Amino acid sequence: MLELISLSKTYRTGDAALSDVSLQVPKGQIVGLIGPSGAGKSTLIRCINRLVEPSTGKIELGGVDLVTLGRRDLRKQRRRIGMIFQEYALVERLTVMENVLSGRLGYVPFWRSYLRRFDASDIQRAYQLLDRVGLLDHADKRADALSGGQRQRVGIARALAQDPDLLLVDEPTASLDPKTSRQIMRLLTEICTERDLPAIVNIHDVPLARQFMQRIVGLRAGQIVFDDAPTALTEDALTRIYGAEDWDAMRKGDIDQAEAENDAIRQLAEVGA
Ligand SMILES: Nc1ncnc2c1ncn2[C@@H]1O[C@H](COP(=O)(O)OP(=O)(O)O)[C@@H](O)[C@H]1O
Ligand SMILES: [Mg+2]
Repeated sequence: MLELISLSKTYRTGDAALSDVSLQVPKGQIVGLIGPSGAGKSTLIRCINRLVEPSTGKIELGGVDLVTLGRRDLRKQRRRIGMIFQEYALVERLTVMENVLSGRLGYVPFWRSYLRRFDASDIQRAYQLLDRVGLLDHADKRADALSGGQRQRVGIARALAQDPDLLLVDEPTASLDPKTSRQIMRLLTEICTERDLPAIVNIHDVPLARQFMQRIVGLRAGQIVFDDAPTALTEDALTRIYGAEDWDAMRKGDIDQAEAENDAIRQLAEVGA
């Protein structure tokens, strides 16, 4: 179980990105985090794996307080947290199999030199994961030869290769067409159920969140203004979350997303070193 207790984040620039956010995510539950651009969705996800340092509050994963961890313990705890990104963050010139195996190392840079150290059980597990995400026939293809949907499947398999206790997923379908988006959401939700994995999924697309999430948390200006089943997401509730904006066309944050992701990946690699 993941528990956020009174989590707040104020950036140095003075933006209060999160204010007093408390949230419990039990095992196996997949929470869709929705809200307008700038609401704090990415900040919330990044506080959990400490890509962003929370200003105040607690974050507990299976009883371990993630906020007070030193560098070495943080590195260990981060292995328990699988990240899935909008832009996949694959190593383009490596094979699908190599990308999945890299999940075994967390986000260690220069991990290529470790490649030959994987034992047979790691490789067998990677094949099982590729089979689960429907890419067994693509194991030896280069990542840059895949479609967007296939790339996101590799991203999912890589996160699972970490054997995580939690999945954090930031806009997983924002670069995909509607049909592929539904397939990816279905795969993600099935996998969380199978593995009893808790997950937080940032998602712009309200219809998609409605269709696949068991629970929806709405953020607005850094505060939780909705926390309920998808069926409770009425027009009124959507207005509370998005204001008078057109909630069906909430795709504005996408421009900053790729840049923020590159930043996040760089930071993960630095701490892995
Ligand atoms: N690195 C940063 N430095 C300063 N302010 C930031 C930073 N990242 C995000 N913010 C601000 O924090 C707020 C929440 O942003 P973010 O978490 O990216 O929202 P969302 O993912 O919901 O679009 C916004 O006002 C944004 O401008
Ligand atoms: Mg975001």
